[in-house]
Amino acid sequence: MEVVIVPDSAAGGELIAEAMAGLLRQKPDALLGVATGSTPLPVYEALAAKVRAGEADTSRARVCQLDEYVGLPAGHPESYRSVVLREVVEPLGLSESAFLGPDGTAEDVAAACLAYDRALAEAGGVDLQLLGIGTDGHIGFNEPCSSLASRTRIKTLTEQTRVDNARFFDGDIGQVPHHVITQGIGTILEARHLVLLATGEAKADAVALAVEGPLSALVPASALQLHPHATVVVDEAAASSLKLADYFRATYAAKPSWQGI
Ligand code: GLP
Repeated sequence: MEVVIVPDSAAGGELIAEAMAGLLRQKPDALLGVATGSTPLPVYEALAAKVRAGEADTSRARVCQLDEYVGLPAGHPESYRSVVLREVVEPLGLSESAFLGPDGTAEDVAAACLAYDRALAEAGGVDLQLLGIGTDGHIGFNEPCSSLASRTRIKTLTEQTRVDNARFFDGDIGQVPHHVITQGIGTILEARHLVLLATGEAKADAVALAVEGPLSALVPASALQLHPHATVVVDEAAASSLKLADYFRATYAAKPSWQGI
C-alpha cells in the first residue's frame, strides 16, 4: 500500500478531495464510499470548496454509506444516514436519490444487510472508498476478529468503540447503540480504490499495526494489505509509530506530482 504523510488534517483532506475530483473528471457518476467520524470532515469540506470554485463536478456523483447504527429512530441526528446527509449529500448538492445506505431501522436486520450488499453490486460497485480507523484498528464497524472475507452484516461494538463514540451522544455511553450494520471487510475490499485517512496521536498505534504489522483479523485495517490500490494518508502525529516513515516520505516525494494517489 502507499503511505502518504501529510503535515496536517487539512492537507490530507485536500489531497483526498483532489483524488475524488480527478475520479469524477474521468467518471462523472462515480460511486464514492464515504465514512463518518471526525477524521473525514476535512475531505468533505475540501471537496465542497472545489465544487464551489468550479474545480470539481459532483452533479452526477453518487455516494454510499460504510456503516450504520442499528435501532436509532429514523432521522436521529447521529444516525450515520443523517450524518452523511448533513456532511456530504447537502454540501455537495447531491439529491437523496444519489445516496445509498443500509437500513438501520429495519425489523429484519439480516435482510437489510443482504439487500445493501446487493444494492452496492447493482450500482456497479464502489469506485473510491474513504475509510477512517478506530483506535482498536477497526474499519467501518468491523471490530477486531472480524472475518477478512466478511460481507455486510450486523456486528456488536466493543466497549472501546462505544467509549470513543460517546462524544457524539452527549458524552453518554448509555446512548451509544450496541449493534451496527457494517459493510464487511470482503465488501470493502471490492471497492476499486481504498483511501484510509488517520490523524492524531491516538491513531498512531492502530496505523502502525495496520500498515507494518502482520495481516490479521485482530487488526481489521490490516486487510488493506490485500488490496491492489490502497492509500493510507496520515498526518505526522498518526505516523509517529511507523518504523518506515522516512521511507514512505522519500517514496512519495519521488513520485511525479501528476500521478496523484
Ligand atoms: C466510527 C466509524 C468508523 C470511523 C471511526 C473513527 O467507529 N464507524 O468508520 O473510522 O469511527 O472515527 P473518528 O474519525 O472520529 O476517529
